[in-house]
Amino acid sequence: MLHGKRILLIVSGGIAAYKSLELVRRLRERGAAVRCVLTRGGSQFVTPLSLAALSEDKVYTELFSLTDEAEMGHIQLSRDADLLIVAPATADILAKMAHGQADDLASTVLLATDKDVMVAPAMNVRMWEHAATQANLETLRQRGVHVVGPEEGDMACGEYGLGRLSEPDDIADAVSNFFQSSAPLSGRRALVTSGPTHEPIDPVRYIANRSSGRQGHAIAVALASRGAATTLISGPTSLPDPPGVTVVRVESARDMLAACEAALPADVAVCAAAVADWRVAEMASEKLKKNGAGPPALEMAENPDILASLAAASNTRPGLVIGFAAETEQVVEHASAKRERKGCDWILANDVSPETGTFGGADNTIHLVSADGVEDWPRMTKADVANRLADRIAKTLETNE
Ligand code: C5P
Repeated sequence: MLHGKRILLIVSGGIAAYKSLELVRRLRERGAAVRCVLTRGGSQFVTPLSLAALSEDKVYTELFSLTDEAEMGHIQLSRDADLLIVAPATADILAKMAHGQADDLASTVLLATDKDVMVAPAMNVRMWEHAATQANLETLRQRGVHVVGPEEGDMACGEYGLGRLSEPDDIADAVSNFFQSSAPLSGRRALVTSGPTHEPIDPVRYIANRSSGRQGHAIAVALASRGAATTLISGPTSLPDPPGVTVVRVESARDMLAACEAALPADVAVCAAAVADWRVAEMASEKLKKNGAGPPALEMAENPDILASLAAASNTRPGLVIGFAAETEQVVEHASAKRERKGCDWILANDVSPETGTFGGADNTIHLVSADGVEDWPRMTKADVANRLADRIAKTLETNE
């Protein structure tokens, strides 16, 4: 689960460099953005074009490149990353790192960075076992560099032993674990509802609303990327299931409540779903027909309030219960009253009057109503709302501990 993570992958020169292409794919599949630096040696084995195509970004090769320095200085390359990975890491680049040499772009970036660095060594078994390499590795370990592999096996040079580059999936796992263990919501469980609900009228018709699920899905991603084991309980949406999140798809409000209860216990519950307030009391078992007697009278029944139920649960109440209030007027006043009525901790109030374009749109303006008062957030994308909320949740759970 690497959503929102930016990785600078340094590919140095060894036969295992071909596996770096697979590594780019694996990291991107997990949601990371990958930018590559290719050493001169590395470019003997893979081309900048292959890395650029797979990373969908420019590949950096030269230290003294006029255009690169103008567009993106070598310092900026490391500033923009959350983690630097050297894969494969040759004996040569490990030596340069250990000794602080900076004579090409890769080694300069590695010396200039203040970010975490992970290396995946790959070399001939004799080079690996050499006292110089082992001493360099020890120096790097002591400085906090994370080392993945190498593995034992047949080598391209015909020998057998330690020195094979770890498999791309294993390196990607190490990257995930790195972010997981340093993640602020690691060890926490989160529950998020999202999307509309569909309330059946008969086997082919239902009552629904225009919720896209974008805000709820973005919140699930933001919580998961901070290490929370996240269950997303989603009504029908056209959005794909976000990776790294357990997705439970439901249709009606009653199904959504049952799925929420099944997902407990949780440290935090965020109810972002636009749950239908009413359902048709008795769903018709056959399609309703026009039989000349005029339109059918639909008797309605009230749906359970999921947010209120979670907030009222005696033993299983999540430590933090958060709801949304979509209002079209007197936004904060109504939201504060809703917070009291539903017994939740925070309400994220937003104005969904048609001229705001919030419902189904990309942006949102939030007023966070809590026991401490009201906090007005500037208008921002739903992804930014999700990230700000997730950070806020992490801080609050830590303080409440
Ligand atoms: O009462 P209202 O629908 O405005 O409340 C909105 C908040 O309550 C949202 O967080 C929504 O997810 C939640 N809700 C719920 N179950 C309902 C109705 C609303 O969880 N039946």
